[in-house]
Amino acid sequence: MSALVPGRLRLGVNIDHVATIRNARGGDHPDPVRAAQIVAAVGGDGITAHLREDRRHIRDDDLARIQAATDLPLNLEMAATDEMLEIALRHKPHAACIVPEKREERTTEGGLDAAGQHNHLAPVVGRLLDAGIRVSLFIAPDPRQIEAALRLGVPVVELHTGEYAHATGDERAVELRKVADMAALAAKNGIEPHAGHGLTYENVQPIAAIPQLAELNIGHYLVGEAIFTGLEAAVRRMRELMDEAR
Ligand code: PXP
Repeated sequence: MSALVPGRLRLGVNIDHVATIRNARGGDHPDPVRAAQIVAAVGGDGITAHLREDRRHIRDDDLARIQAATDLPLNLEMAATDEMLEIALRHKPHAACIVPEKREERTTEGGLDAAGQHNHLAPVVGRLLDAGIRVSLFIAPDPRQIEAALRLGVPVVELHTGEYAHATGDERAVELRKVADMAALAAKNGIEPHAGHGLTYENVQPIAAIPQLAELNIGHYLVGEAIFTGLEAAVRRMRELMDEAR
């Protein structure tokens, strides 16, 4: 399975916004499961889905349907709440990425405040790890957050690329350097670094070229492009750009 090829930069496709369009009319179309099947057929390495507390896109029943429909690993993005923990333990996704949903859980850059939330996160991380789920924290590229991830004992961090994606001019190089430095720091400390948020055809390559990164999770742009070119072509193009950058 492509997800297990060592050294390859994996592409996880976030299919939340297929569900956003479905939910706009409250019915079953377009079905995120069909998107997951297309991602699998076209060589994507994983499916990422965020079950939000307000269920604004992915719904509870989507999780089991996605798991049943493809062999790709499911990366469940979740808030660190009792409700989401119970759902994760029931579905046992391959991975769970803990993300902030409330303002007070966020760092200034928008990632999870793993440093400030240690006592709240520790039992959630522990329960997920005990269940054999690969836990990731979605954090800003900031050394304090990497140190906090180390203290929490997570095997993976996902570095938030939103600041990089939104930066222009010289600022972009500054934000890129933060992601590159934190990927190196994480890897040096035995944590597998991933990255995601706001990545597009135009900005993905400098991120994909960071050698320590093992996985990118990309959603909104791919679903947007899929409207014009189809999801298959969009995933293929992103894959090509990632491969070219390595
Ligand atoms: N990674 C994480 C942890 C996310 O929460 C999201 C969605 O915000 C993404 C990646 C994908 O971001 P985007 O939809 O901007 O590509």
